Amino acid sequence: MAFSTSRYFLRLDTLAKNRNVDCAKYCIGIGQLKMSVFPPNEDIVTIAISAAQKVMARLVNKNEIDVLIFATESSFDLSKSAGIYVHHFLGLRPDCRVFDVKQACYSVTAALQLARSFVKDNPDSKVLVIGSDILKYSAGSSGEPTQGGAAIAIIVAKNPRLMIVEQHFSTYTTEIMDFWRPIEEGEALFDGKLSAQNYLQSLEITFLGYLKKSDLTPSDIDQVCFHAPFSKMAIKARNKTFADKSIDDTLIYNAIIGNSCSASLYVCLISLLDNSGDDLDGKRIGLFSYGSGSVAEFFSCTVVSGYRHMLSAEENRKMLEDRIEVSFEEYEQFCKNQADPGKKYANVGSIRMVRVENKQRIYERRIAG
Ligand code: CAA
Repeated sequence: MAFSTSRYFLRLDTLAKNRNVDCAKYCIGIGQLKMSVFPPNEDIVTIAISAAQKVMARLVNKNEIDVLIFATESSFDLSKSAGIYVHHFLGLRPDCRVFDVKQACYSVTAALQLARSFVKDNPDSKVLVIGSDILKYSAGSSGEPTQGGAAIAIIVAKNPRLMIVEQHFSTYTTEIMDFWRPIEEGEALFDGKLSAQNYLQSLEITFLGYLKKSDLTPSDIDQVCFHAPFSKMAIKARNKTFADKSIDDTLIYNAIIGNSCSASLYVCLISLLDNSGDDLDGKRIGLFSYGSGSVAEFFSCTVVSGYRHMLSAEENRKMLEDRIEVSFEEYEQFCKNQADPGKKYANVGSIRMVRVENKQRIYERRIAG
């Protein structure tokens, strides 16, 4: 597993000052310190390629990838899969199956479970699962401090070297208007209170369902990790289910990236693996995935012995520490996507989006540096 996010961030105390809000509301009440913000030449494809290149570097042969599943709720095209651009820039085999999946922030979990089943039926195959989202709410709305974005890339294979996705899971689907983005809207619409309420109710239902189906008890779960639209939401989830366990390590990256939607749960999982002082060899991690609208799932993974060799903790910390702070004015320009087109913004990976021509996105390889 690997992740990438923007090279730029906005401090939430800067946002609070400019919106005449008490900083403590964002930093303590919501639990967020910074959020990734995206320049015009970075999109869900460019950050996805960056994350995918990191995880592909661990593969001996990229031709082993048979399937690429791209999970997103911030697609810019209703027809063409964003995954095809990733397939192209990674140079994957032409007979690799590529498609996108969508169900708000839940979609990577759906893709992961699909990939698990596919690999079970085709044990020599490897599946590349990608989740990539950039979340925008309207300026001045209550959702504004809970924006963010990141991409996650996961290779699913038999004999995994990091984690084993266990067979037990419990899902819960209910039709609800808690968060949505109509086709014509660039920014998400939401009912914040309803979404938080439904998130917690879905957690309760799926957690009980998971325990029943698996015949496990809460004490069989060593660590827990929640979808984190903002850190306080995950803390509320913990208080409801595992009040005796700390989830601080899962939230270290999230608190400075913001809501990365489909990638969020998996960014939290990497944060736990990178930052936990405990040896997690053989430990079971309970995972709660939630996508508004809504679908939720509680499932679990066990950590493979020797997992630390598969981590990139230093690189991840450096990627986040090296980000560039933007002023409130620059943030507003990024939001309007009207930043100076002549200025070369920094990209996280080797591919940048250079322009839109005849309603087609044009990407180019970036010269390093
Ligand atoms: N000092 C310290 N704390 C303060 C404070 C201050 N000065 N002022 C307020 N707070 C606290 C409040 O007490 C509250 O804490 P509790 O929830 O523990 O009571 C917290 O800060 C937030 O305050 P409000 O509820 O008044 O804030 P709000 O009305 O502005 O809404 C929000 C906050 C609901 C998170 C909003 O940002 C939002 O709607 N975000 C988008 C929706 C969302 O993320 N929903 C989550 C579940 S849906 C999901 O998971 C899918 C997804 O990814 C979107």
